[in-house]
Amino acid sequence: MAEIAQITLDGPAASGKSSAAKGLAKELNAYFVNTGDMYRALTSVVLEQGIDPETQIEEIEKILPEQDIRYVSGDGLDLLLHINGSLAQASQVRSPEVAAKVSLVAKIPAVRQWLVKRQREAAGLGLIVMEGRDIGTVVFPEAKFKFYVSASPMVRAQRRLAQEGEVSAGATVEKVAAEIAKRDEMDMNRAVSPLKPAEDAVMVDTSDLSLEEVISSMAKLVREGLNRG
Ligand code: DC
Repeated sequence: MAEIAQITLDGPAASGKSSAAKGLAKELNAYFVNTGDMYRALTSVVLEQGIDPETQIEEIEKILPEQDIRYVSGDGLDLLLHINGSLAQASQVRSPEVAAKVSLVAKIPAVRQWLVKRQREAAGLGLIVMEGRDIGTVVFPEAKFKFYVSASPMVRAQRRLAQEGEVSAGATVEKVAAEIAKRDEMDMNRAVSPLKPAEDAVMVDTSDLSLEEVISSMAKLVREGLNRG
């Protein structure tokens, strides 16, 4: 059987990697998997159950076996995130409350192990574009195509501010930049699977590029690689 190539995109919050990964998947007729939403989904369950991710790590570990967080096939190449049998709602996974706590949940080793297993299962679907923080380094270290997507802190804050729902009412660009910096700090300095570029990743700075430019440059590299075999 021919080996299926995985395409990984890692990078910090609001770097443009989700839009780029989604567009790239469409361009290549591949599945798109957003792993940040899986960490967010679990965080929403933790908060709904009244568990404090700062102090009740054992409680989180205890509820893991009862949870079912997975992508299921939708229409064509669309994958739908389900949380315990129900379709995940944007208001659940993209709320400011979840955004504020997700890095605390994501640094728990048992949580990472649990979700990485589910992420690897998605590789069975076919050609996938998977985005997150540790996809090229931990989830698919053998992936054929790896990108590390970044952008300047100000550009990232402006992009996040333009996204509805995730920032609190009355947020300023300075406040959003500070929140993003705090999350980066936690994601880059955690003991397990910290955010860092894989050694063989192609670095993509999206600060001065349009989304279309980012997608077409990545698609070109992937197509050339696939044609080389
Ligand atoms: O991509 P995002 O901002 O939606 O991710 C939410 C959080 O989940 C982020 O703060 C770090 C964590 N995360 C992670 O640790 N590993 C991943 N593969 C994806 C996300």
